Amino acid sequence: MLVVSNRGPLSFRFDDDGTLHPVPGGGGLVSSIGPLLAGTGATWVSVTMGAADRAAVAQGRMTDENFTLLPVVIDDDTYRAAYDVVSNTTLWYCHHHLFDLPRRPRFDRYWRQAWDAYRRYNQSVADTVSAHAEADSTVLVQDYHFSLLGQMLARARPDLRTVHFCHIPFADPNMLRVLPEEAAGELLAGLAGFGACGFHARRWEAAFRACYADPALGALAGVGTAPPTFVSSLSSDHEGLLAEASSAACARSVETLRAETGGRRIILRVDRVEPSKNIVRGMLAFEELLAAYPEWRDKVVHVALVYPSRQGLAEYLALGAEVTHVAERINHAWGTATWTPIVLHVEDDRPRSLASLTISDVLLVNPVRDGLNLVAKEGSLLNGGDGVLVLSHEAGAWEELSEAALGINPFDVAGTADTLHRALSMGIEERRSRAARLKELVLARTASDWLNEQLAAVQPLSR
Ligand code: F6P
Repeated sequence: MLVVSNRGPLSFRFDDDGTLHPVPGGGGLVSSIGPLLAGTGATWVSVTMGAADRAAVAQGRMTDENFTLLPVVIDDDTYRAAYDVVSNTTLWYCHHHLFDLPRRPRFDRYWRQAWDAYRRYNQSVADTVSAHAEADSTVLVQDYHFSLLGQMLARARPDLRTVHFCHIPFADPNMLRVLPEEAAGELLAGLAGFGACGFHARRWEAAFRACYADPALGALAGVGTAPPTFVSSLSSDHEGLLAEASSAACARSVETLRAETGGRRIILRVDRVEPSKNIVRGMLAFEELLAAYPEWRDKVVHVALVYPSRQGLAEYLALGAEVTHVAERINHAWGTATWTPIVLHVEDDRPRSLASLTISDVLLVNPVRDGLNLVAKEGSLLNGGDGVLVLSHEAGAWEELSEAALGINPFDVAGTADTLHRALSMGIEERRSRAARLKELVLARTASDWLNEQLAAVQPLSR
């Protein structure tokens, strides 16, 4: 079995003195599937993300005791165009319905060069997989970076059983039609080459199928109907997460958080700074709570743990600055000598994140659109204080957790404030039963279920 992802379990950076320094791969994908694949003999195919990774490959240091790593060496220009311009600024925005349509995107000749780079990047991975995969292997391809790989592999190695799993939403047909026609057609044809395509939620699967059923897009794809699809939500490694959360480092972080918040009630969010996460509206809803429900002033703190993401993209940098500015303004407007309404942390600190999930009173997960949202599931599992989950209807996890979470429209700031008030005011009986049900729902699915469902989607002879 081979797993393909853009970011692998191991990366490198150069220290100030130029020496190579290993950095474990971050993000939900690696932490969820890493433990599952460890020791299985699986090969993990990922892409070099810069000069340090390429140097590590050249020196034979891209190795891991748990997996066979198969790095695909990509030059900087190709990588930046494929990753920044196409994967993250075009496809990610398209699938999240986040284009600022009056102004962006702009598909000029530079963008078309970037699309060529995206094609080359997919082809390099296809060539590596084709050259190394044993006959009849299963290839599990992760995410929108590899939309073209299915067709490339089907042509080069028809014996392989290939699955594509999309960790983000999938665009509705009208949004996919924003892409240049040739790119939309190539993307749908590329995905149709996989033996099966998987999604975290029924909504994204339905959107995907609707794109093939759309007369204009279907004609561009030129492949007839959609490939086989399946829905399978990812879960964290439950035992590993619980063990990590009971570590001494997390216990120390709990003490620090209690001191920072002065023992007040905690409305928590833990997110990467991504435009889909809706961090600013979350802060504005908290401010609205203070305005509309004065009883919570000085009684509650919004702990916002928001960590840097994709620092190569201007919009992400601007969003980070806006988040800090809004938090400072709210603290200035509402804070007192002894109460800081928003405690904002912007440096990634995993023990602090896990510790905060164990003690929060309310976990706010309000994305405008999100493939799944693992934090909603992890918080529900780890919380030890019958905390309430306030969850966006637009997160894939809503399909799984709706019966025990409080739902919100993420665009409705006043509505979110009312729901935060309801969560903070909820009686202990209701909190207990909702929290217990959330844990049951999360424990009902394991990370192995997700892996097995991908394998089941491409049983032999299913192609
Ligand atoms: O935003 C979530 C997500 O897009 C995942 O679907 C994806 O695998 C991951 O982020 C990639 O993050 P990065 O660009 O930091 O590697």
